[in-house]
Amino acid sequence: MRRILSILAGALLCVVPALADEGMWLPSLISQRIADMQAKGFKLDAEDIYSVNQASLKDAVVLFGGGCTGEVVSKEGLLFTNYHCGYSYIQRHSSVEHDYLKDGYWALKREDELPNPGLSVSFLDRMEDVSAIMNDAEDKELAAAELVKQATAGGKGLSASVEALYYGNQYFLFVYRVFSDVRFVGAPPSSIGKFGGDTDNWMWPRHTGDFSIFRIYADKDNNPAPYSPDNVPYTPKKYFKVSLAGVKEGDFTFIYGFPGSTQEYITSDAVRYISEVSDPAKIGLRTLRLDAQKKYMGQSQAVRIQYSSKNASVSNSWKKWQGEMKGIRKMKTVQTKKEYEAAFEKWAKGTRYEGITEKLADIYRRLEPFNYAREYTSESALAVELPQFASSYFSAQPENREAVKENFLKDYYMPIDKESFVALMTAYGKNVNEEFRPLYYEQQMALYGSEQAWADALFSSPFARGDYSDVENDPVYIFRREFTKYYNEQLLPVYRDLTAQITELYHDYMQGQMEFEPDKTFYPDANLTLRVAYGKVQGYEPQDGIYYHPQSTLTGIIEKDNPDIFDYDIPQALRDIYATGLYDDQPVCFLATNHTTGGNSGSPIINADGNLIGLNFDRVWEGTQSDVTFDPEICRNISLDVRYLVFVVDKVFHAGAILQEVEFVN
Ligand code: ARG
Ligand code: ASP
Repeated sequence: MRRILSILAGALLCVVPALADEGMWLPSLISQRIADMQAKGFKLDAEDIYSVNQASLKDAVVLFGGGCTGEVVSKEGLLFTNYHCGYSYIQRHSSVEHDYLKDGYWALKREDELPNPGLSVSFLDRMEDVSAIMNDAEDKELAAAELVKQATAGGKGLSASVEALYYGNQYFLFVYRVFSDVRFVGAPPSSIGKFGGDTDNWMWPRHTGDFSIFRIYADKDNNPAPYSPDNVPYTPKKYFKVSLAGVKEGDFTFIYGFPGSTQEYITSDAVRYISEVSDPAKIGLRTLRLDAQKKYMGQSQAVRIQYSSKNASVSNSWKKWQGEMKGIRKMKTVQTKKEYEAAFEKWAKGTRYEGITEKLADIYRRLEPFNYAREYTSESALAVELPQFASSYFSAQPENREAVKENFLKDYYMPIDKESFVALMTAYGKNVNEEFRPLYYEQQMALYGSEQAWADALFSSPFARGDYSDVENDPVYIFRREFTKYYNEQLLPVYRDLTAQITELYHDYMQGQMEFEPDKTFYPDANLTLRVAYGKVQGYEPQDGIYYHPQSTLTGIIEKDNPDIFDYDIPQALRDIYATGLYDDQPVCFLATNHTTGGNSGSPIINADGNLIGLNFDRVWEGTQSDVTFDPEICRNISLDVRYLVFVVDKVFHAGAILQEVEFVN
């Protein structure tokens, strides 16, 4: 009786059956969600989303580079992704003379499409539940390697991996076809593609034209092949048609893409560490680096180009962590999870799950100081650029060293790095306890007496002055070597060991949660495998008394336009076209309730008919805690309205020829 009562109490406490729009679902299991999707307006079937027998929408979605999503939009392998996903490639093609960041780029002829060494896109060929094999295997690593070997034998460009889901309660094999000849076709100037910059990043109302266009090339048999001038545009199995019908509040939407990482099932202790310890510390350190970058980027166009990509990536997480920390605090997630754990433990009495949350709490307590030192070190000492370069120069093959050097120096400005060093090491000395610092640090501080003097010595070493003859004995290299050594030998092993124990416990805790809440549908945490998230177009209330509408327009861009503020200085062409008065209501971005995370950038956002309506690129600041806890009231993804893409390419830059091969529908 007590048991039944406590089950009931537990069930009542947490009747949150996977809330409508929460969740990132496995495409091959979408049949389990399809009834719900259709009830919410979706007009196609599970087989249209993922099929082993016929071409389906999954064949038009790619993992773009190492951490974004892209979608195929024509018979000839034309690909859309975000501007910020293509950014580092666009930057590499740019110089002060050919500044594609500033002016944009449009390849109106195939010959003008630019190759991008190092960039590849991956199509998911198939996925398969291999839990049985993996669970039976004595050596899981070996079993996974064997599965991968079998899956990739005898196919061009095949790659595969076995991924654990639900902390190893399930295993899937993912097989990809990887294309490595991907060419840059076009992008607007960054005053459109990055409009709003880091000021508007993670925020609504948003007006960023966050798109860039690429094309996948294949050999003459349509197979993946390394770059060759003889390659031809890839003929995809499936491509998206582009809808110009537009969206309105309440419309069904879904996102197909590669979300990177979420932790929805962690305990209150893990959440507290994120919002009270880790996020605040990392925010503090990145503020120091950003301050140094901002100071010099404002003084010279060359430095601005050099640091544009680095600055965007440093600032991106910096801002996200702020939203996440606030969101977790506001939602009282630590408290809610504590209550959940108490209910769980009550239910778990006498089962094999009894005491599991306390065991987790105990390991988290031991982990915290190591994890903190690990994160702090990597965001400070290990974030200094010159020692990073010394180390990669030293470990490169002699014949590659020149390339490593050129690549680094092209985007390096020493005053930024040196100022960052002083600020970061000062913070390090203050905020990391002596017992978690290498002896090397104490020695150097004793030797130089101050961070500034230490910096003066390091940044005038032979290596720093361009003499690479004795890297191994150069203080710059030694700095990196000593901190890496400490990190790898003193911090990482403990961190790894304790995290492995935690993961093992989560394996059981996950199982326990599923038994505790048998009616809830659990979705696996994101792990950069292909997922479907669905929801609808919808605004939200960021604060009491304010409602944010889900669509932004060109008028909003003009309202923000300001030639004196770099982030808001739009191209004259956009001002001119607005002045015609014909485009006041031109849609730019929209909000929806799809559950997304980093990696979903560039993801196709699709309407009820399966047609492309936009490109996902961000979330709202008030909802970035969705990696840890999803609040359907406030978590929103931000997409570029595909009609703005068409408008910019065709109307603003008269490059509509690029879109001629796209199939537009209403
Ligand atoms: N916040 C988006 C994401 O996490 C966009 C990042 C790029 N934009 C920027 N201003 N840094 O990827
Ligand atoms: N902007 C992110 C990305 O690049 C998406 C997000 O975190 O919502 O993947």
